[in-house]
Amino acid sequence: MGQIGDGSLVEWVIRTRYTRAVMLKNLNIAIIGAGNIAEALVSGLLKKRVVQPSQIFATDVSESRLKHFKTQYGVRVGSDNAQAAKWCDILILAVKPQVIDEVVVGLKLPARSNPLVLSVAAGVPIERIQSKLRSTKHIIRVMPNTPSIVLEGATALAGGPGVSSQELEIGKSIFEAVGKVVVVEETHIDTITGLSGGGPAYVYVFIEALADGGVKMGLPREVAQLLAAQTVLGAAKMVLESGEHPGALKDRVASPGGTTIAGLHSLEEGKLRGTVINAVQSATLRSRKLGKLGQSRHIASRKNGVGRAKRAT
Ligand SMILES: NC(=O)c1ccc[n+]([C@@H]2O[C@H](COP(=O)([O-])OP(=O)(O)OC[C@H]3O[C@@H](n4cnc5c(N)ncnc54)[C@H](OP(=O)(O)O)[C@@H]3O)[C@@H](O)[C@H]2O)c1
Repeated sequence: MGQIGDGSLVEWVIRTRYTRAVMLKNLNIAIIGAGNIAEALVSGLLKKRVVQPSQIFATDVSESRLKHFKTQYGVRVGSDNAQAAKWCDILILAVKPQVIDEVVVGLKLPARSNPLVLSVAAGVPIERIQSKLRSTKHIIRVMPNTPSIVLEGATALAGGPGVSSQELEIGKSIFEAVGKVVVVEETHIDTITGLSGGGPAYVYVFIEALADGGVKMGLPREVAQLLAAQTVLGAAKMVLESGEHPGALKDRVASPGGTTIAGLHSLEEGKLRGTVINAVQSATLRSRKLGKLGQSRHIASRKNGVGRAKRAT
């Protein structure tokens, strides 16, 4: 598969104006790196019947990961990244940032091969991947988060040079299998890393603290934890499904002189909002710094003729 005439199968699917629902039915997807994010994607795509197992080829250096993907999901597996890249219409790079350079170089994509490339590698700019490929490819940078594993991910996509809106739609179709998706400019990806990339960790701390409060006031730990986690889930659903401003929803549950406004007062005294805003800002700045570090190491390694970038994240 892969080529029709001079164009890629992705282009052909776009030309024939397939709807998003059926778009992916005709495309083969290779995933390089059968780790956590790859498993979330494969599991979501198959569970939601967006693609068939025969449309997925997962590669990894670990035999046990390949065995797991084969037995659990029935997808094609192998250790030859170049073979998978040649076979596919959509190529998902899901290895760690510190090995991405050598992995991309090792793909040895022929100049005429035109898969749509999606990279989830944190802190790795599109330009860096482009420079490692032998010819101009259409690349989409993706910032997913770990709740993708339970199909409640928050993912941002940014298209590189030449990426069409239809190609972004294909990218969206893939990540919508594991949650909600937004399309942004690449310049926003560091902020998104600081918000939804790190966000699950911030929320885990909030859930833990909420449960600790219950325990302090006499609740058994498992009861407190269940109530805390379900409260966060329910409040998030209220925001997403009502479309209302969270402040308006907050006002509705805070009755005059009541218990909730007393609790809210304590949160304000503890500067919860300012602290959370600072958390997103700090993580964003850190992501920018690591991206620049990775970039300068990448440039240095190119100058020194060294293929493998050092750990940047
Ligand atoms: N997890 C997240 O929440 C999250 C969020 C945003 C972005 N990301 C990005 O997503 C990417 C994958 O993250 P992850 O958490 O899924 O990592 P992971 O679980 O470590 O998965 C990466 C897999 O790639 C394998 N691998 C290493 N070298 C390879 C090679 N040359 N060819 C093929 N496979 C190779 C690794 O094997 P070994 O372990 O044996 O080396 C591992 O199984 C990273 O770039 C990360 O920055 C992750």
